Amino acid sequence: MTTIDSFSEMLKPLSESEFLASVLGRRPMHIPGPSGRFASLLSWGALNEILLCHRQVDHLSLRIALNADIVPPAAYTHRSEERLEEQCLQLDVVKLNHLLREGASIVLNKVQELHPPVSALCRTMEWSLHTSVEACAFAGWHGVQGLPVHWDSEDVFVAQVEGTKHWTLREPAFKHPLAMHRDRLQPPESVYWEGDLQPGDLLYMPRGWWHCAVPNDQPSLHVSFAIRPPTGLDLIMGVLRRLPESELVRTAVPRFASEEAQAQYLSGIRNSIATLMDQVTVKDYLRVIDSVAKTRGALSLPWAAMPGQSLPDHFWLHWMPPRPAPLVESDREVILDVMGSQFRFANIAAPVIRDLMSCRRVTVGDLCARHAHADVQEFLTDLIAANLVAVSANRVI
Ligand SMILES: [Fe+2]
Repeated sequence: MTTIDSFSEMLKPLSESEFLASVLGRRPMHIPGPSGRFASLLSWGALNEILLCHRQVDHLSLRIALNADIVPPAAYTHRSEERLEEQCLQLDVVKLNHLLREGASIVLNKVQELHPPVSALCRTMEWSLHTSVEACAFAGWHGVQGLPVHWDSEDVFVAQVEGTKHWTLREPAFKHPLAMHRDRLQPPESVYWEGDLQPGDLLYMPRGWWHCAVPNDQPSLHVSFAIRPPTGLDLIMGVLRRLPESELVRTAVPRFASEEAQAQYLSGIRNSIATLMDQVTVKDYLRVIDSVAKTRGALSLPWAAMPGQSLPDHFWLHWMPPRPAPLVESDREVILDVMGSQFRFANIAAPVIRDLMSCRRVTVGDLCARHAHADVQEFLTDLIAANLVAVSANRVI
């Protein structure tokens, strides 16, 4: 089974550059792909394991949808009675099976926190798109509508893993809506696109597009990936966060002053905002938000707790900062601003860091062989402690 681990593989045959230039944020696109393309993302067996390992429903972002409605958790859970002081809501497999036979669908949010192949794809998408990615799994069996016709306040990539599903898309009457606009919008009558997603197909839709998906009376599994790139509103809010530095902005609005003094006050506020806006460039703003983006991280036990231990050659190293960042070099050191911190290293480390940033996943043996002159093993100890690098026996974490 081929592992899908890059954003460009998700989009094929469309190129990543073509997608970024002419599709992202502009229009939906259905991209048919080879049937096994997403098979490694999530299987029925993996879904069974996730649900059984997290039977405490309170710990899962799980919803059961039936006939365009969300089923109350009481219909598929029971309270654990084992310890009265620690009662928790547990999945009731018999009740759940009954609902699924009636046509209900499983909607499992935040799958990137539950299943390594999905986490890995989310990370590689974030590297390409410069925005965090959240994944949700949808499983349905019968030709019954799960969620109601709705739009999302994020752009969504739908990866059809198994079975088929019938999709209907309608244009947004109100372009680029935000979550705050949810209550005031209604779907239009006319259908923009409808069709079946086959295993391996990808469907992209920008935020705001109305959609509805119904399984074709067969087991159907898809994973959707949601992104929310920063908007102009985010940029303005980011700039305005620096306004309290202005003394005028900190003073009380002059309620009891003359109209002339009030106008002067407002003019001063306007100038403070304009001055701040003049100081920012889009490039700088984007660099800052990339440099503070956090990673969920990965534990590298037992090595993280044992400095100085040599890592096995066949183990995998994973570059953890979620987005590309410039490596600023001087005569004596290299500086890296990532994950909200500034990291400084002796400049002899620059080739190793640049290599890790460029490949993002490499075996210990390969990295050491490529930098044979340096003490890579010792340097890795520091990188692991700082969560810049994670180490694992598995290729996918
Ligand atoms: Fe949706």
